[in-house]
Parts: sequence; structure tokens; C-alpha cells
Amino acid sequence: KRKGFIFDLDGVIVDTAKYHFLAWRNLANSLGIDFTEEENEQLKGVSRVRSLEKILDWGNKSISQEEFDRLMAHKNEEYLAHVDRMDEDELLPKVAETLEYLKEQNQAIALGSASKNARRILEKVDLTDQFDAIVDGTDVSKAKPDPEVFLIGAKALDIKPEDCIVFEDSVAGVQAANIAGMVSIGIGDKYVLHEADHIFRDFTELSKDFLQELIRK
Ligand code: G6P
Ligand code: MG
Repeated sequence: KRKGFIFDLDGVIVDTAKYHFLAWRNLANSLGIDFTEEENEQLKGVSRVRSLEKILDWGNKSISQEEFDRLMAHKNEEYLAHVDRMDEDELLPKVAETLEYLKEQNQAIALGSASKNARRILEKVDLTDQFDAIVDGTDVSKAKPDPEVFLIGAKALDIKPEDCIVFEDSVAGVQAANIAGMVSIGIGDKYVLHEADHIFRDFTELSKDFLQELIRK
């Protein structure tokens, strides 16, 4: 059967969370706000605007719209400086192989990311051509856990939501997949991602037999 396999980008295909962390931490610290790995965890899958709102909330700060826009632009510039140094070496283990295998099996493949930088990152790691559809932060108006991004992806692939499988590293993303009625596969910590239908540490743990099962069902 032809299924739709929808991949989140940050934390699933590439480990960009570390770059988001560095840039958000600098921004938070410049406002006198503490920013730890734990807080960073809560920003995974969360849009750029919502992330800054949350940081300001944590620090009990309110700023003007102008300052807000300036900080967001600055954060993105700093983040992109890291992104522009990326290459294929930054692909997470067995991601490229998994995409290739699904392609060989004639499966439909989409990207479903909240990032407005998604296309730029796919170019850097030379994966753009592997996707039949790319849905990113420039295509959606509602952030995960709203299922919009994955539903648009399913539509673009012309596959019913219930025949789609989503790979996600964030809690909000797993919830979005569940709400969309798709099979959710958490990539990461089994306690953090306990709401997912299946959870794996990374793609090295995900066998071809398991992928075949998803295709057959
Ligand atoms: C992903 C990341 C988030 C990030 C969001 C927006 O969901 O997990 O940490 O804030 O994309 O990314 P952007 O590249 O548009 O700032
Ligand atoms: Mg992610």
C-alpha cells in the first residue's frame, strides 16, 4: 500500500535544537532571563513568535512590538549563522537510509515542519529532492499541536490522514499527529513522548520489518 510518511525536520532529520538553544539563550540572557536545556525542551516544535512569547512569560517581561520584532530577527540571524555552516554530516543517524528505503518502496514522503527556515536547511543537507511535498512554517497559520501542518502535508501527497505516519521529536508534534488521526512515531525520549503510538531513540532502532508493517497495515 502507498502510505504517507511525514517527517518533522528539527530534531528528527537534523539536530538543530542545539543551535536554537544557543540563539534563544543569548537572547534570554541579554534580557536578564535564565534559559536552560529544560526550557529549550518546551520550545521544540513551537513557532518562533510563540517561543519568544514564552521566554518573555518565563522572565515576566513585557516589551514593545518593535523590540519584539527586532529580537526575533536577531535570534534568527544568529541561528542562521549556525545553519549556514551545516552539511550532510549533520544528518541524524540512519535518516538518509530510511528516506531512501521508503522511496524504494514507492511510499509518499513529506516534510511537516514549523520552521520558516526548513527549505534552506534541506538544501544544506542535500535532501530537498527526497520529498514529494514540503510543508513548513511559511505554509501554516496554526502551530502544532494544531494538526494543520500534517493535514496540509497529507493533502499535498494525496493520501488520507489515516494512511499517514508522522515522525516527531516534540510533544506538540506528537499531539498534532494524534489529533490528525495519523500514526505518531516519537523520536527521542520515551517518557517525554509517551503519547506517541511508537517511540524510538533514533532511526537506528527502527527496523525495515517495522517500516514494512507500517506500509502493510
Ligand atoms: C521547529 C523547532 C522550533 C522552532 C520552530 C520555528 O519547530 O523545533 O524550535 O522555533 O521550528 O523555526 P524557525 O526556523 O522558523 O525559527
Ligand atoms: Mg522537531
